[in-house]
Amino acid sequence: MNDSKSTIRQRADEIKAYQCKNLIAVLENPMDIKNIGAVIRNANALGVEKIYVVDSRHSLPDDWEELRGRKSLSRISVSASKWTFVKRFNSTEECLAHLQNNRFVSVITSPHIKGMKNHVLHEADYTQPKLAVWFGNESRGVSDTVVDNSEFCISIPMFGMIESLNLATTTGIVLYEITKQRREYQAKYKRAHRKT
Ligand SMILES: C[S@@+](CC[C@H](N)C(=O)[O-])C[C@H]1O[C@@H](n2cnc3c(N)ncnc32)[C@H](O)[C@@H]1O
Repeated sequence: MNDSKSTIRQRADEIKAYQCKNLIAVLENPMDIKNIGAVIRNANALGVEKIYVVDSRHSLPDDWEELRGRKSLSRISVSASKWTFVKRFNSTEECLAHLQNNRFVSVITSPHIKGMKNHVLHEADYTQPKLAVWFGNESRGVSDTVVDNSEFCISIPMFGMIESLNLATTTGIVLYEITKQRREYQAKYKRAHRKT
């Protein structure tokens, strides 16, 4: 094995225990490729297992390898796009069906009260065995279809004059709290099983 390969392998081994399995960040119809790149970077840095992108307008290529190669994406995501699993879907319904078939619980993020249950980010529990966290379009937010198929809505409290945060910024804040909780839970679960 050459030096750079062994350094990468070593890093992969070091971070393995901190990865959050069965955690997916879903972007519903993002408009700006730079936001996708920034979300990939955040997700990779925080140990999120996968990213799903709903692309109803078919603005992204089916082939992730082609998208990965685009300068506008790789520049923003740095090399994170090389190491992150990204899957695109043609519609919100297709993505929801895939998540439901695989027993994922969906939760949404919004600066507004949406659906039946709403939580401030740090007050909710994110230790569900399989969790998909939806982030909405830059101008329209999340669709009613996702709201109707989600367990609850998470909000980051807003104390300024503006209505919402930028999409990529939101993923950093929300996924930080969620991965922190899931890592703590994973560590506790492992310790308890070691004792038995
Ligand atoms: C620019 S915002 C969309 C604003 C849109 N006018 C709306 O009503 O949702 C893009 C996405 O970032 C997330 N977001 C932005 N601010 C948020 C906040 N304070 N709390 C939770 N999610 C937020 C949501 O996923 C939202 O769909």
